[in-house]
Parts: sequence; C-alpha cells; structure tokens
Amino acid sequence: MTSPFFQHAVNRRGIEIGDGLIGTLADPQGGRQNHPMSTRQDLSRLISSARRIVVFTGAGISTESGIPDFRSPGGVWSQIKPILFQDFVAKPERRVEAWRRTFSGRAGWVGRAPNDGHQAVKALWDQGKLTCAITQNVDNLHQASGLPDEAVVELHGNAGYASCLACGLRHEIEDLRPGFEATEVPPSCRACGGLVKVATISFGQSMPLEPMRRAEAAARSCDLFLILGSSLVVYPAAAIPRLARDAGARLAILNREPTDLDDTADLVLHDEIGPCLREIIL
Ligand SMILES: NC(=O)c1ccc[n+]([C@@H]2O[C@H](COP(=O)([O-])OP(=O)(O)OC[C@H]3O[C@@H](n4cnc5c(N)ncnc54)[C@H](O)[C@@H]3O)[C@@H](O)[C@H]2O)c1
Ligand SMILES: [Zn+2]
Repeated sequence: MTSPFFQHAVNRRGIEIGDGLIGTLADPQGGRQNHPMSTRQDLSRLISSARRIVVFTGAGISTESGIPDFRSPGGVWSQIKPILFQDFVAKPERRVEAWRRTFSGRAGWVGRAPNDGHQAVKALWDQGKLTCAITQNVDNLHQASGLPDEAVVELHGNAGYASCLACGLRHEIEDLRPGFEATEVPPSCRACGGLVKVATISFGQSMPLEPMRRAEAAARSCDLFLILGSSLVVYPAAAIPRLARDAGARLAILNREPTDLDDTADLVLHDEIGPCLREIIL
C-alpha cells in the first residue's frame, strides 16, 4: 500500500522526483515554538538528552569533503543540467551523455573522504544513540566513515556503482569503462541485456520503495530528528522531517542558510556542520 506521504511529490519550486507522485506540499502548519534555542550549546544539550536520534543529511554535509552541493553558488546545477530519467530511457544520445559525465567524474561525487560531519554521525552511532542516517546524498561518505550499511538509508541511490534498470543486477562502473570508451555505446546488462544506469535516482525516476519505507518508520519512532545540510526543497525526501515532527520528535536543523522548515523546528542553527559538530560531538 502506498504511504500517504508518497503523494507529496512536487515542491513549490516545481522540482519533482518519482513516478506518479503528484500533489503540492502544503505550507507547514504553525510551528510549536519559534526556535528560541540557537547556539551550539543548545544543540549539544538537545543531542545529550535524546536517546533515539535519526540524522537526515543533504549535500551540505559533504561540501567540506570537496563535493559541491546543488544550490550554493558554484553548485552542481549551475554547471550541469540534470538528465531526466525519461530522457535517459528514451533517448540514446542522452544515455551517451550520461555515461560521458560518469566517466569524466565531473560531478565529483565519488572518491572523496568523509569529514568531521560524517565522523560526528558515526560517533553518535558508536554511542548507541543513532537509529540511522537517512541521506539524500549519493557519495557513499556515511559508509566510508565506518557507519554500517544497515545504519544508512539512501533515498537517492549511490553514485559508486551502476545497476540494470530491468533486472537490478549490480555492475561496477570501472568494469564498464573500457567498453564505453572504445565504442561510445552505453553499457547494457551482462545478464539480461537491459539498460544499465548509475545507481542514483534521477529526476523523474521512482523513489526506491524499501529505503522510503525504512525512512518513514525511523522518522516516526525517533525522539530527535536532526537535519544536517539540506535545503529541504527536494520532495518527497523533504516531507520526511514533518513525519517525525508530527509523531512527536524534536526537530533540529543545522544548516548554513535558512530552510522552509525553520519556522516549525525546535532548534535552528545557521552554522558550518563540521566545525559545529567537531566542537559538540567529536
Ligand atoms: N554529495 C552528494 O551526494 C550530492 C551533492 C550534490 C547534490 N546531491 C543531490 O542533490 C539534491 C540536493 O538537495 P540537498 O538538500 O541535499 O542539497 P542542497 O544543495 O539543496 O542544499 C544543501 C544545503 O546545505 C547547506 N550547506 C552547504 N555546505 C554546508 C556546510 N558546510 N555547513 C552547513 N550547511 C551547509 C547549503 O546552505 C544548502 O542549504 C539531493 O537530492 C542530493 O541527492 C548530492
Ligand atoms: Zn539485467
């Protein structure tokens, strides 16, 4: 059965992810408090008093690892226009372009090292306080910090490998490079001949069901939902914090810039993630 929040798919800036996900997210309904707490010490206290923390990360946690986010100046979207899922499937020339981008490494999403932000999340796991990290990132840096796979919920996939759109078989990107570079023919599945695509979720592609279910369940059962480095404009991912808040969790946002959910959060801190979490967690 489809969960109600799968229907909230289009944000106010018109960005859509997911097949058949229609509807416009309503304006957040009146906040509990106008986030009176806003210092690192306040965040530290909130984390100390929590027992079941869910961390929700966006591109902002990885900028200190040298991976540009989407919306800051110089971000990915100012340089590379995304290829829509339907175009990848329908247009061979878009598939060629997608694979050229992958092998050029232009997006810079793979091969970086985790930073203090990722290490702080791992430290919460080691302290037994973290249920999971729900991430919109595709850079594998939570896993690279030592967080086990079962503690990471990837909402938008992973840029570190490819998979067959027909049968799901995993393909290693470097295994596909020689064939593509020799022929410029986009790779097809070695098992079934289907289209092979980097295992990220593109705009227009269905959200992965199992991670969405895990994220929803974790959000509904945590006592602190901590957002790190997300502009919260990409839906349906950005609907998840509201699930946590509506189920009674505290909502805390650590982000350099204001977000659409600031008014409804218990704590908002406009700060740099690495230095802040190094001071209060590491
Ligand atoms: N690293 C990655 O895997 C990566 C990189 C770019 C984009 N993406 C994808 O792009 C989409 C973008 O949405 P999003 O909300 O994740 O990112 P976003 O680019 O929309 O927002 C990032 C937010 O983080 C803030 N930020 C940046 N660096 C920060 C820092 N050091 N400390 C504190 N705040 C900081 C920015 O002000 C911004 O509000 C996601 O769906 C994601 O899948 C992923
Ligand atoms: Zn296949």
